[in-house]
Amino acid sequence: MSSKLIISGGLPLTGEIRASGAKNAVLPILAATLLSDTPMHVGNVPHLQDVTTTMELLGRMGVDLVVDERMNIEVDPRSIRELRAPYELVKTMRAAIVVLGPLLARYGRAEVSLPGGCAIGSRPVNLHINGLQAMGAHIDVEGGYIIARAERLHGARIVMDQVTVTGTENLMMAACLARGESVIENAAREPEVVDLAHCLICMGAKIEGAGTDTLHIDGVDSLTGCHYDVLPDRIETGTYLVAAAITGGRVRIKDTRPDLLEAVLLKLVEAGAEISTGDDWIELDMQGRRPTAVKVRTAPYPAFPTDMQAQFTALNAVAEGTGVITETIFENRFMHVHELQRMGSDIQVEGNTAVSRGVPRLRAAPLMATDLRASASLILAGLVADGDTSVDRIYHIDRGYECIEEKLAQLGARIRRVPS
Ligand code: EPU
Repeated sequence: MSSKLIISGGLPLTGEIRASGAKNAVLPILAATLLSDTPMHVGNVPHLQDVTTTMELLGRMGVDLVVDERMNIEVDPRSIRELRAPYELVKTMRAAIVVLGPLLARYGRAEVSLPGGCAIGSRPVNLHINGLQAMGAHIDVEGGYIIARAERLHGARIVMDQVTVTGTENLMMAACLARGESVIENAAREPEVVDLAHCLICMGAKIEGAGTDTLHIDGVDSLTGCHYDVLPDRIETGTYLVAAAITGGRVRIKDTRPDLLEAVLLKLVEAGAEISTGDDWIELDMQGRRPTAVKVRTAPYPAFPTDMQAQFTALNAVAEGTGVITETIFENRFMHVHELQRMGSDIQVEGNTAVSRGVPRLRAAPLMATDLRASASLILAGLVADGDTSVDRIYHIDRGYECIEEKLAQLGARIRRVPS
């Protein structure tokens, strides 16, 4: 049943919550289990729709999955019989493309539906395909499917034209079981890519350079299962910090990693927040102040993440002064702006830039979520709007935020889920 969220704005958020495991790390890690000869245990798994979809995808391949009540997942790939990711699952979750490299490297064959574009841009996968071809794969595109075959992949030197997160992940996973050495240059340095590398190393892979732009991978003959805990979600953490900043509140996020959020914390300080951190927690105190508008430019890690852009657009909408947001990763990631305008914000989009003259208050309105991070920004705006904001199509938010209304309620927000 579809549902919507109703948010009654106006309360500063205060309190403490725990960060969940990272969506964008757990998805490739679950795909990496396909490389293993023995069962694998994945811990700190967030309860998300995208995780359910990935489990369904692996389950349909014949992989055996056992989930305990704490969301630890045991994956046994030995019963696999179908090397295919069907359109009806890939269309709901583009990240399913990350099964391509593992299936091909371990089983010599893969059929993966082309993901196609989505609300935030055209999102091609040409770099995934080119890289696998350089490693010896034969790839055809037929009937909307990528059909890939290889006897055994061989190592290759691959220079990525553009920094791509899942592209780097697919090629890194494939290279782990290829014959010989691979070098991936202009690799993505995102923490989720590093987490995947650590997981693969724990399975027996030989990878050097994770977290830099050059990966050296020495292919091995086989990988085996291990226990791996997924890293905390930096985007979820950042979203709750903005929720506190936008409402003038004070929150502490536990079980997170401040070192993965430097660019975001810097912008929050510029916006007027007081930030303190420990090894695994971040506290933000706005002391009731209205935020100051900031200038943000998205770029690959360690620069400011595109996945935090929509949340800062909401912050700028109610901040003091004029804010400028430049989106350099995806060509169409300003869908939330139209909805924020309906709440009385003054934002002009020109090309890839959104210029916002902050207004003191927003007005509640019925809103429609268009993608995951856009939905988050609408909820943030609802927290400071006068009246009751409803956000429809929240299946987008359930893809990537674990128990969002419970966590926000724990911080004192008035939010509830109702059938739509
Ligand atoms: N690109 C190409 N060709 C390719 C691959 C990418 O031109 O073969 C382009 C894309 O069109 C885009 C840029 O390269 O302009 C970067 O895209 P990237 O491949 O890095 O994105 P992704 O791997 O599909 C992941 C995250 C996204 C996040 C981006 C950027 C996962 C599962 N998804 O996507 O997360 O925005 O990296 O950091 O890791 C989200 O969580 O809301 C989300 C969209």
